This record gives sequence, C-alpha cells and structure tokens, in this order.
Amino acid sequence: MRSQIYRSVSNSLRSFISASKSSPLCAGRAVAAATATSFRGKAPAVASFYGRTESRHVPNGWLSGLLAVPAAVYMLQEQDVYAAEMERTFIAIKPDGVQRGLIAEIMSRFEHKGFKLVAVKLVVPNKEFAEKHYHDLKERPFFSGLCDFLSSGPVLAMVWEGEGVIKYGRKLIGATDPQKSEPGTIRGDLAVVVGRNIIHGSDGPETAKDEINLWFKPEELVTYQSNSEKWVYGLN
Ligand code: RTP
Ligand code: MG
Repeated sequence: MRSQIYRSVSNSLRSFISASKSSPLCAGRAVAAATATSFRGKAPAVASFYGRTESRHVPNGWLSGLLAVPAAVYMLQEQDVYAAEMERTFIAIKPDGVQRGLIAEIMSRFEHKGFKLVAVKLVVPNKEFAEKHYHDLKERPFFSGLCDFLSSGPVLAMVWEGEGVIKYGRKLIGATDPQKSEPGTIRGDLAVVVGRNIIHGSDGPETAKDEINLWFKPEELVTYQSNSEKWVYGLN
C-alpha cells in the first residue's frame, strides 16, 4: 500500500518534473538544486522555501506563486523521488559460492544490472540461525541437510536495492534447480545441482523484509545516493 502511494506520488512528480523542464517557468531550478539536500526525504513547503531563502530574488504577488511550484518540484530531485520508492532484497552467496571464488562474479551481475548494494558482510551462521532462515521449509526432507550446509562455512550476506529488485533478483539467480535454470542466469551459468546452487534470494516483499531483519541490524544498512542512479533511472 505504502509503495503504491510512493509510486503514484512519484510518478506524478516525475511527470511534473519532465513537464517543468520544458517550461519557461524554470527560474526556481538553480535555487532548488542548491537547497534540495537540506530537504531530502521530506516534502518541502513551498511557502517556507520562499520565506527563508528566496525572498530577495522573487517578486511578490501572483508571479511568485507561479514560480514557486516548479521550484518546489525541483527541490524534490528525481533521485530523491526514486530513493523513496526503492525496494530492497536479501541475497546470500552460500558456502559453495564463497568457496568456489564466485563472490565477485555474482556481485557484478547485480551491480552491472544497475542495482545498488546497501549492506554486505561475511558470516558463518550456526545451524539454529540457518533453521530460522529456512523456517518455511522445515517440513521438507532436505531441511536438516540444507541447514547443515548453510552453516558449514562463510556466507556472504547482502542487501541490494532497486526498482523491482526482489522479482528481478530472482530472475538473475535462475530456477532453484540449476539443471532447469536458463543459461545466462547465475545458477544456470555457475551451478550444476540443486543441493549446491550457490545463492539465495528473497522470494517476495514480506520474505525480503523478514530476511533483511534476520541477517542485518538496521544500522548496517547504508542509505546513500549512488552517482550512477541518474543514469540508471529516468523518463524519456
Ligand atoms: P533459496 O531460498 O535458497 O533462494 O532457493 P529457492 O527459493 O530457489 O528454493 P527453495 O524452495 O526456497 O529451497 C531452498 C533451498 O533448498 C535447497 N533445495 N534442495 N534436495 C532438494 O530437492 C532441494 N530442494 C531445494 C536448495 O538449496 C534451495 O535453494
Ligand atoms: Mg527460497
């Protein structure tokens, strides 16, 4: 629901940003760019924007009201709008992927796609932790062996962020059984059997949230703006 609101608000804002770029009423652009960072994550109030920073340069009356709108829109820079709606997923390179030296190869596939790394650590989970992670599979015959395996060595735990990253992350990973994974996917290219399929990825928004909370403390997630974002996201 929240993400739908974000999406709808941000879509409107993006359309407005595009429209405003071609409008002659762009006087607020430079000013807005200069002050945008101090409003990051908040919807700026047009009145206070003018009251505090621009009263010297902006005429009073109806014209200032007219100029205020594009200025405020530019304060919410496109990257900020995107940052507000970005989803996150939990991805782990299992002990077989780590031992086989596939960390860089796997990370580069997410990175090259355009997703952003927001947390990473190398950990050896104990069996109890592995059982928590795979709790939804506890009735399956391979559950104990799977948890033994996940706790048998270092796991590279990561959180990746980006539009559609949960679903598309699973596409990058490929089918559970590498015999059925398409070539071009991580499991398709780099693994052979289901018991050693080298990588885990959250399978939905709720699982992603739970798994991120299980593996990471909130302060281990780094929120930042990547320089490449403006080249990865945009409207024509
Ligand atoms: P994952 O959770 O690791 O990302 O894998 P997945 O969603 O593609 O598949 P899932 O059904 O959640 O299974 C979790 C892991 O259990 C192992 N498995 N073994 N022996 C078997 O038939 C079997 N089936 C699944 C795999 O390591 C799988 O990734
Ligand atoms: Mg799964």
